Amino acid sequence: MPGAAPGTMSDCLVFFGASGDLARKSIFPSLYRMVKEGTLAVPVIGVAFSDWTVEDLRTRAREAVKARYGGIDDEAALERLLSLLRYVDGDYAEPETFERLKTALGECSRPTHYLAIPPVLFGTVVQGLKSVGLNHDARVVVEKPFGRDLASCQELNRVIIDAFDEHAIFRIDHFLGKEEIMNLLYFRFANSIFEPVWNRNYIESIQVTFAEDFGVRGRGAFYESAGALRDVVENHLFQIVALLTMEAPTYQGYGAVQAAKSNVFKAMRPLTRKDYVRGQFNGYRDEEGVAEHSDVETFAAVKLFIDSWRWADVPFYLRTGKALAVSAGEVVVNFKRPPQSLFNDAQDPDQHPNRLRFRLQPDGEIGLGVRVKRPGEEFVGHEQELRLPTESPLEREPYERLLTDALRGDSALFTHEDSVEAAWRVVDGILTDHASVIHYEPGTWGPEEAAGRLIGDHGPWQNPHV
Ligand code: BG6
Repeated sequence: MPGAAPGTMSDCLVFFGASGDLARKSIFPSLYRMVKEGTLAVPVIGVAFSDWTVEDLRTRAREAVKARYGGIDDEAALERLLSLLRYVDGDYAEPETFERLKTALGECSRPTHYLAIPPVLFGTVVQGLKSVGLNHDARVVVEKPFGRDLASCQELNRVIIDAFDEHAIFRIDHFLGKEEIMNLLYFRFANSIFEPVWNRNYIESIQVTFAEDFGVRGRGAFYESAGALRDVVENHLFQIVALLTMEAPTYQGYGAVQAAKSNVFKAMRPLTRKDYVRGQFNGYRDEEGVAEHSDVETFAAVKLFIDSWRWADVPFYLRTGKALAVSAGEVVVNFKRPPQSLFNDAQDPDQHPNRLRFRLQPDGEIGLGVRVKRPGEEFVGHEQELRLPTESPLEREPYERLLTDALRGDSALFTHEDSVEAAWRVVDGILTDHASVIHYEPGTWGPEEAAGRLIGDHGPWQNPHV
């Protein structure tokens, strides 16, 4: 059968891109945590084209865990992880690589193949797996961005669906495995008090910021092929918007959530060049792998509309960037002002209406901004925020959660074919039809145009204070 049945447990994890950056930054630390938690006890086969041996892979795993956690707090767990590792070296374009992988799998018959590799290689690897029958009783986990544009996404879906059943395809967006992002779904539908105001009648605008205070950290070549729009907006930020705006799932189960989210992507109005501000931080062109005259954006801000009954005319302002003032992720829902000005301070333009703020990272927090009267004769007030920290010390790494789910065959936190295609349809036009990048200084909030022309009267941007 081309694809393991839902709910069956995989008996091996194969991961392509074992010598890469993602493996070092996120995958090995997550595998270590999975071994500690007891959710990983099956062989893990790293595949790469690096002329490595299994010893090199073990060394990399140890270094990665150490770098992520500042040391090894459970040497026995690390040793268990190292003993589970196997390694296959080879060019993904060569059929022999997949033959060797088949041999390395030995007795394992239900592998999960995780493609932590650049999107241009997804199709080659999937076809390689199929050519030696490694799609049978198997799952495939595919990293984002899923394609480069609508056409390549559709082609990729075609190639993957030719090799695996849809229920065996896990399209990963690691933001969906973050506690604070899962909490958006929970918060909205486990509380009833916000639902009556969660629409165009009460909400003026919504801002989503995902900022990083560092540059591309040696990933210049990747960034040249992606840019901030493909790297973060089209997937991570759109997923956040979908969770914020979806209708209530009609039954308990991930299928209902997927369907409700998919409807949001389909209702998003395709972006045009006037809805988009592109920036590039000064210094980006000096990075290794970056073209001398690169016009790739390291900052992207868009103004998005969702043409649905609930959200018509409510602007969503999304922005992301490298080398910005802080590292933080935050959503701010701005509510409308009261319909009548009963107090002298009501129309002061510097005053915010009510707002609900979800700090997604670095620390989870929910803030509800309300106005309260200042003591004194006058009926004037100020904004106070009710704050609720949501961070928990038990939080799992997003990849720990998602890889555990994939090995178990639980696809609740993964994205589906129709959603990824609908999301690409929204950005497809502006991938090519856009203005040149505007340069900005590292440590700022990006180009002025994002604050001026784009957000206009709905501004200012509410910068996360961390
Ligand atoms: C990745 C992007 O998907 O997400 C990176 O490729 C970005 O550019 C990263 O830095 C942010 O995720 P996190 O979990 O490290 O905040």
